Amino acid sequence: MSIHGNIKIVTTHQLQEMKAKGEKISMLTAYDYSMAKIIDQAGVDVILVGDSASNVMAGNETTLPITLDHMIWHATSVVKAVNRALVVVDVPFGSYQGSSSEALRSCIRIMKESGGHAVKMEGGIEIKESITRVLSAGIPVMGHLGLTPQSIYKFGTYTVRAKEEAEAKKLIEDAKVLEELGCFAIVLEKIPSKLAKKVSEAIAIPTIGIGAGPDTDGQVLVVHDMLGITQDFKPRFLRQYADLNTIMKNAFENYVSDIKSQKFPNEKESY
Ligand code: KIV
Repeated sequence: MSIHGNIKIVTTHQLQEMKAKGEKISMLTAYDYSMAKIIDQAGVDVILVGDSASNVMAGNETTLPITLDHMIWHATSVVKAVNRALVVVDVPFGSYQGSSSEALRSCIRIMKESGGHAVKMEGGIEIKESITRVLSAGIPVMGHLGLTPQSIYKFGTYTVRAKEEAEAKKLIEDAKVLEELGCFAIVLEKIPSKLAKKVSEAIAIPTIGIGAGPDTDGQVLVVHDMLGITQDFKPRFLRQYADLNTIMKNAFENYVSDIKSQKFPNEKESY
C-alpha cells in the first residue's frame, strides 16, 4: 500500500472482477525471496505461500509437520520480494482447527509478522466458526476444497476426490457456505472437471483449480513441480514448463569439474 492509501497490489476485489469479466487468474506457490521476485515480475496475479513448503522445501512426506513459525518465516521472505501479486499464506495444520480463537490468533500472527495479504484454510462447513472469526477481523480468507492435503491420513490416498455423488454434493454445498461466509476465492484441488465447472458456475467468487480441469476461474501449480525441479512427482494435471532439474544438475556438475580441473577460478575471476 502507498502512503496515500492506494493499494498497488492485485486485490481480492480485482480477482472477483476478473471472474466477472471471464479473465483467468494465475496463481503459483513461492516460499522464498528470490523465487517470489521472479514470479511477481512475470505478472502472476496471486502468490501462494503454500504449506507445500513442507514437501518441496523441507523434504517431508506430508504438509502436516510445517509449523506456524515456519510459514511466517517463508511468507516474510516472499512479501519482501513482491510488488504486485496478492500474497496468500496457508494456515498450517493444527493452528486453526482447534477453536475459532486459535484460528484468529494464528491468522493475526501471519498478517502482523509476515505482511501477507490474505490466508488460506482447508475445509468446508466443519471450519465455519474459524473462518467467520478470521473474516470478522478483516482478514481475507481463501477456501480450499476437494483434495485437502492436511487431511491426507483421513483420505489415505492422494487420488481424485468427489467422484461419488455424495461427496460431490457436499463439495458444492461447502463451496456455497464458503461464499456466504465471505471467502474471496476457493482452491479446488484434484476433482473431476465437470464438478469443478459446476461449482465455478454456482458461486460468484473465483475458483482456482489444481487438477480440476479448464473451467475453473484460475489455475495454481506448485512452482517446483512446474519448473521440473521436483523429479518424483508427475501427476497427470501437472504441466512442466521447464526442466530445471537437468539444467541445475549440469551446472553443478560443470562447477565440480571446473574445480577439480583447476579451471575455476581463472585470472579474471581473481583479485
Ligand atoms: O500448499 C499448496 O501448495 C497448496 C496448493 C496445492 C494449492 O495448497
